[in-house]
Amino acid sequence: MRRSMLFAVQVLILSSLPVQAGGICKSGEYFSDYNQRCEKSVLQIGAGDVIESQTIDQLKSRWPVTRLTLSKSPAYGEADKKIRSYEGVRLRDVLASLLPAGESIDNYVLAVTCLDGFDPVLKPAILNKLKTSEALIAYRQTGISVGPGVSKDGLWDLVSAPWGIVSPGPFYLVWSDPSGTYWEGWPFQIKSLRLIPTKKYNEMLAKIEPDPEFMKKNPKSAVESGYDQFRGKCIICHTLNGFGGKKARGDLMSIFKQLKQPGEAEALIDAMIKNPPDGMKDILDVKFSPADINHLAEYLRHMGQRAN
Ligand code: HEC
Repeated sequence: MRRSMLFAVQVLILSSLPVQAGGICKSGEYFSDYNQRCEKSVLQIGAGDVIESQTIDQLKSRWPVTRLTLSKSPAYGEADKKIRSYEGVRLRDVLASLLPAGESIDNYVLAVTCLDGFDPVLKPAILNKLKTSEALIAYRQTGISVGPGVSKDGLWDLVSAPWGIVSPGPFYLVWSDPSGTYWEGWPFQIKSLRLIPTKKYNEMLAKIEPDPEFMKKNPKSAVESGYDQFRGKCIICHTLNGFGGKKARGDLMSIFKQLKQPGEAEALIDAMIKNPPDGMKDILDVKFSPADINHLAEYLRHMGQRAN
């Protein structure tokens, strides 16, 4: 195979590295753009319905600390020529640990959720790139310090997102080779990574997808937007129509079936997001616009009606 000259890559495995100074947060924390304060960096990882929270120290003690140097960082635009180094753990190592014994990654998808609401599902087309290139779940960039263009925690070069200039932390997935992986494979502000058998993922979609009349409209229907939100931000803990996470008891379908008064569903979601019960506190650092809440309500109301 011909090696790409453009994306010369250096991979180093390191046992320990000095902690970067200069940021306003303590080691193991990141600065949240949404809450405007330091938060603990916690990555949720899992396979199927089992999910566990990992701090950076836990990640470091479980998998080899690895550094990846990129001569091209596609999220920074065509004109950007800066060489960036990242420190993290290898996606390949993490997936190998998560994958049940004897199973092949070819039969799985990787559902990613992010603080900013970008929640891609990485299919085998991208995951197979791990066979020929390296991907790092980075928890910081190295060789930078606080200043213009750097996040307040001193851990990242700020990046341009559709809604403004943001920090890619707490976790950013970077690849040694952008071709075939960019942009879906480069989520930033990662909150969770979950392996789901492709078959189960497709069955789940069939159970929680809105009625066809709401799907693939231009512009997108509120119900479909809510469905996107729900898949990305809620399903990891909640069951709906028999599918999804098991962290919350009960099925949201039966709860929303009862909420028929105008505004009732919106009010419950708004209250849960702003003042979450134990077990849902994780949601506090996720970004929600008022429209997001309305869309979630439209979708869950629709699913509740289906239960009748
Ligand atoms: C980190 C896990 C987690 C996430 C993510 C999460 N929830 Fe929850 N949620 C919970 C837990 C735990 C409860 C408490 C109820 C329970 O124990 O069953 C709860 C309660 C609720 C309730 C009250 C109904 C009930 O079952 O008591 C609603 C409504 C709700 N969540 C909606 C949402 C929505 C909408 C999202 C996505 C925007 C979401 N949740 C994301 C864990 C989570």
